[in-house]
Parts: sequence; structure tokens; C-alpha cells
Amino acid sequence: MIRLIYHGKTIVSYVETMGQYSRLLLEFPQDVQPLFLAAKAGQYILVKCEGHLLWRPFSINFVEGKRVYIFFQIKGAGTDWLSKRVIGDEVEIRGPLGQGFKVLLKEQAQLPILVAGGIGLAPLYYLREQLFSWRYNFERVALLIGAQKDCCLVSKEMLVSGATLATNDGSVGFCGTVIETLLEALKGEEGEGFSKIIYAAGPALMLREVARIAAEWKIPCQVLLEERIACGSGACYGCVIKTINGYKRVCCDGPVFNAEEVDWNEYTEFAC
Ligand SMILES: Cc1cc2nc3c(=O)[nH]c(=O)nc-3n(C[C@H](O)[C@H](O)[C@H](O)COP(=O)(O)OP(=O)(O)OC[C@H]3O[C@@H](n4cnc5c(N)ncnc54)[C@H](O)[C@@H]3O)c2cc1C
Ligand code: FES
Repeated sequence: MIRLIYHGKTIVSYVETMGQYSRLLLEFPQDVQPLFLAAKAGQYILVKCEGHLLWRPFSINFVEGKRVYIFFQIKGAGTDWLSKRVIGDEVEIRGPLGQGFKVLLKEQAQLPILVAGGIGLAPLYYLREQLFSWRYNFERVALLIGAQKDCCLVSKEMLVSGATLATNDGSVGFCGTVIETLLEALKGEEGEGFSKIIYAAGPALMLREVARIAAEWKIPCQVLLEERIACGSGACYGCVIKTINGYKRVCCDGPVFNAEEVDWNEYTEFAC
């Protein structure tokens, strides 16, 4: 029987920690492989971190055989604990959860532009891989990655060729913000004659700016939003955001939303 959500143990089979970032490979049982192989980029898993009642959400960063990658920034006690796991440790997870990015078929969508701010690269890396596996032409998936400085652009594997990098201090790639590279990509000739679609993940203020630009250029745009997740099943309403269609739950109605439906004033009210 195929379960819709796996809830159980995984085994840590790889850990890579670089400064304040970690990439972890979690091996799940063979019989849930179809579940994870069918997962969409933008979906996430909840991870039980020792000593914490609330499980921590992480985007699916890649699925390989019977293993799922997560890529995360060490922010507080939960992620600190997780980054200290070693090969062979057991970690309990739930997932895949939520609604991922909606990818239009090749005939309909033409030039996908992926805009990642910092750790927003985690889900967009997987989206890019999925677009490639669905036979998108390599040149026609633009990946723009922005970070404060080069140490934020971590895993070697994830410094994907063909990506445009921007750092605020100019230490790697373009000196400036990812928003500037987005504007360049929109004005450029790449993908001329094709309609464009933007997928974005990253800090709230960056997403708001991406959404504004997408509306100005009349380009469809999907954004991955973050809220504190409690139940993760839609029951507690602890993760709601305001949209033009009323309140929606990030954990199950999202985390991916159409940019135009989000109430950006409310979403960014406490963002810095
Ligand atoms: C759907 C979804 C997918 C996510 N995917 C990733 C991912 O792939 N990689 C990654 O690094 N992080 C991701 N996050 C954020 C990640 O879940 C939090 O950073 C993590 O839960 C922090 O746990 P902690 O115990 O280390 O920190 P805590 O002690 O809980 O918090 C430390 C700091 O992080 C902030 N924080 C905690 N949770 C969130 C959150 N959900 N959103 C924004 N700020 C938060 C707190 O306000 C506080 O300032 C995702 C969040 C969501 C909702
Ligand atoms: S976390 Fe409970 S409804 Fe979203």
C-alpha cells in the first residue's frame, strides 16, 4: 500500500557542514521510495530535533534513490542539534508535506527564472534538477542566487554551473543583489520570444520585491513562504498568512503560493 505521508525513522548517511550551513542525507525505508520520488520541489519534510516539541520544517533539496537531502542554515538549537548528527544516527521525519511549485508543461512554460536568496537555494536547486529531468533545455532554466557573501554559497555540488551568483560584498560573482540580476535577466535577450515564469524562495523582503517586479512585468510568479510550523497537518492554524483569498495555511495550502495572491504588507510586517 502506498502511504501518502511517511512518518518514521531515517538513517543519516551523509553530513556536510560548512560554517553555518549543513547538508544532510537521510535514508528512508525502501517501500516509501515512490512517495519521495513523486515529491515536488517546494515540498518539505518535518524533522524531529531532540528536546523540541515542534518538529522543524526543511525543503526537499534533492531525492536520490531512497535518500532525501536537506540543506539548512544553523539558526537555533534545533538546527544546531541536527547539524551535529553523524553517519548512522537515526532521525525521525514526516513528509513529503505541503504544495510544491507548479510546473507548467514544456509546451506552456518557456523560460523558468529561479530566484534564490540565501538558503532559498535549497528548494530551487531541486526545482532546477526536476526541470532538467523533465527535459528542459539546460540554457533555458535561469538560476539566480543571491547571498550576503561567498561563505553563504556553500556546498560545492550546489554551486551549480550555469547559475548567476550575486553577493552583496562582491566576493563571488556579481557585486549587488539578486534583484539586480533578475532585472538584467528580464531585460536580456535570453529566452526572447518565450514567455517567462519566475519561481522564488528566500527572505521575505526579497520575495516581496520579486513579486512586485513580476507584477510590473506581468510575469507569473510562484513564491515559497516560510512561517513557524506547529502541527504541519493543517489542524492548528498556527501558520496562517493573509491572502486575497482569505487566510491560508503555509503548512498545507503552501508553502508555495502565487505571488499575486499574497498580502505582502502583512507578510513582511516584521521582516528585516
Ligand atoms: C516550509 C519551510 C521550509 C523550510 N526550508 C528550510 C530549508 O530548506 N533550509 C533552512 O535552512 N531552513 C528552512 N526553513 C526554516 C527552518 O525551518 C528554520 O530555520 C528552523 O526551523 C529553525 O529551527 P531552530 O530550532 O534551529 O531555530 P529556532 O530556535 O526555532 O529559531 C532560531 C531563529 O530562526 C527563526 N526561525 C525559526 N523558524 C523559522 C521559520 N520557519 N521561518 C523563518 N524564521 C524562522 C526564529 O525566528 C529565530 O530567530 C523552512 C521553513 C519552512 C516553513
Ligand atoms: S502548522 Fe498547524 S495549521 Fe499549519
